[in-house]
Amino acid sequence: MKKILITGGAGFIGCHVVRLFVSKYPEYTIFNLDALTYAGNLENLRDVDEAPNYRFVKGDITDETFIYDLFEEHQFDAVIHLAAESHVDRSIMDPLAFVRTNVMGTAVLLNAARRSWERPEGKLFYHVSTDEVYGSLGSEGFFTEETSYDPRSPYSASKASSDHLVSAYHHTYNLPVVISNCSNNYGSYQFPEKLLPLMINNIVHSKPLPVYGKGDNVRDWLWVEDHARAIDVIFHNGRLGETYNIGGFNEWKNIDIVYLLCSIMDRKLGRAEGESARLITFVKDRAGHDKRYAIDATKLNQELGWQPSLQFQEGLEKTVDWYLSNTTWVENVTSGAYTHFYEQQYVQR
Ligand code: NAD
Ligand code: DAU
Repeated sequence: MKKILITGGAGFIGCHVVRLFVSKYPEYTIFNLDALTYAGNLENLRDVDEAPNYRFVKGDITDETFIYDLFEEHQFDAVIHLAAESHVDRSIMDPLAFVRTNVMGTAVLLNAARRSWERPEGKLFYHVSTDEVYGSLGSEGFFTEETSYDPRSPYSASKASSDHLVSAYHHTYNLPVVISNCSNNYGSYQFPEKLLPLMINNIVHSKPLPVYGKGDNVRDWLWVEDHARAIDVIFHNGRLGETYNIGGFNEWKNIDIVYLLCSIMDRKLGRAEGESARLITFVKDRAGHDKRYAIDATKLNQELGWQPSLQFQEGLEKTVDWYLSNTTWVENVTSGAYTHFYEQQYVQR
């Protein structure tokens, strides 16, 4: 019997982690703590929200009193911390929001765990982080767990900061922690401001497809459910105080991925080949745009036996099918803050 607090469970990756843990571990009670920002949506969890081992708590991880009371009331055995501001472009517009949630929010959770866990045996604080903390690669090489931190956007700096706090709590207070740093995720329930769902949505509506710069930046894509499985494996078998890199060994230039998506969608929408690609519009580059990310996930594979399950083309087809079958979800989540932010900041360029 374990009580597990998952933060950010109403977001993109969080909802897949909650779904996996609720269904796979009926003996655990899963508490999903989420502030329901523009990126969090309870519709993402409709299929599990009546499960007897699932509870939703609305709250902000930066609210110290609230978080301390929550830990006092429920005596959690473990935390899987995903809540964050997660979009790089937003961090360039509003860096302080990222410092508040990602740095301060993580510090509050760590402190709550430290206060609550007088005896740390059997407890775990699992911090979900990103490969962006390692900075940007040239055309060669991979990020390993030994790569020095070199964050270059306000988002990645805030995540690097939170990683350092997690390590510091381990070294200073002996808090049982584990960290994972993952590459770009794709799949269902991703808010349509990130590259893939944004492009899918714009193709559906025949709107311009804004490719930053020349489109030659490289990202390493991983099916979100494979990330959730990696979190499960690391949560149960990872070594305390360790970091694990998670990635799909699946590098793509942005422009190539957009062309592939256009061709898949032409077929699925019954359009002539090449019709969607005509929407591609090269726009001003992202400030400080990291050139290339590529994860070496050998440690996770060799120590814990994890590997990605899905080929990219298959995952992309499934992702497109999901968005085409869930247009109401897209309309609901894009009707508020998203419209205001995205339309004003990007479409005009
Ligand atoms: P997301 O933006 O989709 O979801 C974030 C969730 O956190 C939302 O449900 C939001 O409501 C919640 N949240 C935000 N601020 C909060 C606060 N102050 N208190 C409580 N809840 C709050 O993000 P995501 O893409 O699912 O990413 C989840 C985690 O994984 C983040 O920590 C992110 O840094 C990390 N990560 C993401 C990716 C990726 O490709 N998306 C890759 C590697 C790591
Ligand atoms: O690497 C892991 C990170 O991946 C996560 O930590 C972040 O939370 C997640 O947002 C993601 O960051 P990126 O900046 O790589 O993802 P994004 O989808 O915003 O952009 C992917 C690439 O596509 C990047 O090179 C920028 C480019 N891009 C993005 C958008 C939104 C475009 O060319 N046009 C766009 O409209």
